[in-house]
Amino acid sequence: MDYPFLRACRGERVSPVPVWLMRQAGRYLPEYREVRGKDDFLTLCKTPELAAEVTIQPIDILGVDAAILFSDILIPLEPMGMGLSFSEGKGPILEPAVRDEKDVETLGGIDPDSDVPFVLETIRILRQELEGRVPLIGFSGAPFTLATYMVEGGSSKSFMHTKRMMYAAPRLFRELMAKITGVTKSYLEAQIRAGAQAVQIFDTWAGILGREDYREHVLPFVQEIVAHLKQAPDIPEVPVIYFILNGGHLLWEARESRADVIGLDWRTPIADAVKALGKDVVFQGNLDPCALFLSEERLKERISSILEQGRGAKAHIFNLGHGILPEIPPDKAKLMVSLVHELSA
Ligand code: CP3
Repeated sequence: MDYPFLRACRGERVSPVPVWLMRQAGRYLPEYREVRGKDDFLTLCKTPELAAEVTIQPIDILGVDAAILFSDILIPLEPMGMGLSFSEGKGPILEPAVRDEKDVETLGGIDPDSDVPFVLETIRILRQELEGRVPLIGFSGAPFTLATYMVEGGSSKSFMHTKRMMYAAPRLFRELMAKITGVTKSYLEAQIRAGAQAVQIFDTWAGILGREDYREHVLPFVQEIVAHLKQAPDIPEVPVIYFILNGGHLLWEARESRADVIGLDWRTPIADAVKALGKDVVFQGNLDPCALFLSEERLKERISSILEQGRGAKAHIFNLGHGILPEIPPDKAKLMVSLVHELSA
């Protein structure tokens, strides 16, 4: 089936403009909190029936044009050999933090079929349940973003340990990036084989780097992943979306990843991105997640402006500029989706 979201990813202008939300399955939905109330987050990720159930919730409730697999970018780090836990309020914890040669050496590769079977099973269930409704997006973290969690041992504000390794031990950092890249290639390939119809690579923290460091330490690894997915024998060719948070200074570099779609956060107007990269690029984005606190009238103006800018691109997929916040009333998210459809019909 030729879904509007997939057609837009391939560069076709479709009307109405397809829309989905990063983190569309999550705590802002009472239906999610209900399922989540009984189990912790990781158990949810590792139980295919539950992961599939919460993946489908926003399809039914919001009317979005694509589903995104319910999982987390940190999931493959556990079979690589790291301890992973989520503490309420503190975010993810990865232990022990990767700091020296010995730490990098201990990290292993993964065999997705035996190490993360629950992810592949969730995808298979979802493909059956979503057939004829919406396509399914698989995803991974980008190597740099995963490296920050591994080296910092969790979330960070300054990313001092990551940058220190990058600058003081560049060969070690490259070795770490290469290991994560190998894992990400086989992980995304396995998701596609299991039925993911598009994949998004989340580079949440690459925006902390200047252009020169991004080019030297990050871009080659993202390129390797995209090239692998495009060239691997016997896997269906699926669109690849590359999203950098706070990546307005890395637009040219993001394009060099050769991903099919570039995701923008709210700080970079789509019109500026079109001006910078030309009319042959597909963009995804980019409403400020907090704009969902606006009044209906002001929200409508913001959405119209983004849609208008998107008309200058080769094609446009509407999204938030980052994940939806737990504080957003679901009705507002629903309103956003219907406004996007109405205003672009
Ligand atoms: O988009 C979706 O609906 C699919 C599911 C998804 C989750 N995380 C579920 C989740 C996706 C695509 C992610 C990606 C992810 N995870 C990223 C990249 C995108 C981004 O937000 O920048 C990152 C950096 C992570 C790491 C992560 N996971 C953090 C920092 C946290 C804690 C912060 C928080 O919001 O609580 C998580 C937990 C997490 N991942 C939750 C969900 C629904 C909340 C868990 C809960 O129910 O308690």
